[in-house]
Amino acid sequence: MVTKPVIDCMRLRRSVRSYDGRPLSGEHSGMVCGYISRLKAPFGANARVMLLNSESGGGRVKLGTYGTTGGASDFLALAYKDGPLAEEGAAYIFEQAILFCTSLGLATCWLGGSFSRKDFKGCAALLEGEKLRIVSPVGYASGKKRLWDVFINADAHHTSRKAFENIFFLYDFTTPLTPDTAGAYREPLEMVRIAPSANNFQPWYAVMDDGAMHFYHRKMLGGFDAIDMGIALCHFGESCRQLGIGGRFDVLGKAPVTKDATYSVSWLHE
Ligand SMILES: Cc1cc2nc3c(=O)[nH]c(=O)nc-3n(C[C@H](O)[C@H](O)[C@H](O)COP(=O)(O)O)c2cc1C
Repeated sequence: MVTKPVIDCMRLRRSVRSYDGRPLSGEHSGMVCGYISRLKAPFGANARVMLLNSESGGGRVKLGTYGTTGGASDFLALAYKDGPLAEEGAAYIFEQAILFCTSLGLATCWLGGSFSRKDFKGCAALLEGEKLRIVSPVGYASGKKRLWDVFINADAHHTSRKAFENIFFLYDFTTPLTPDTAGAYREPLEMVRIAPSANNFQPWYAVMDDGAMHFYHRKMLGGFDAIDMGIALCHFGESCRQLGIGGRFDVLGKAPVTKDATYSVSWLHE
């Protein structure tokens, strides 16, 4: 039974790279499978989240993460098909799965680069046209630190995020939005600010105008910016839902433009 509000899970979640070697308990694995089977990707994306372990493909395969994580035998994996807003929609449900695991006290870590695609594809039974670009170990944290944690400065966690007024704006890209001027959107935007992103780049912007919040992402090395955008949209949409802020996502023909970033989608206040 999950009782933790999603905003608490967003605040609690952090990348964990050391696991204690225990496979997921039957109860945890059943709850995760039940949850991911009910997820439906937004923005018309065709995506699904799977729970894999070394025996998923029928044989015993070691699911490799090149030493960036260790001790986990269970993994979430994200499969999706190309299409408009496919990466945003796919990342949205993967982050929902991550946050659900957090609510169960399970540790996770988004991985986009450091895993063996060959091992995971062997286990995942992909459908025609599906890509597998993201996985995450899921299990019990060991409390130990890996060299990689130190390398990417894992302790800095939420304190190493960009300032609110550097990524959120009012009406256009020249007037910074502050927590005080964001009104009801202060908390949802703060959840966007602390969301995980590849290399902690936080390649996203939001521009608030009367009745709408427009979202953008900036091209980054590694090409995960649309995925990062989907995670940010998940934090925004799911915290609005928790806080009872009515609205919906839609792609608008007319949103403020900037040469530095690609427009993704807008939240329309209702
Ligand atoms: C799309 C994506 C890809 C990532 N890929 C990797 C990876 O390949 N290896 C890794 O160690 N961490 C990876 N991370 C984890 C980020 O480094 C981490 O989320 C970021 O530094 C923020 O730290 P936090 O998750 O503890 O808040 C990835 C995160 C995201 C969102």
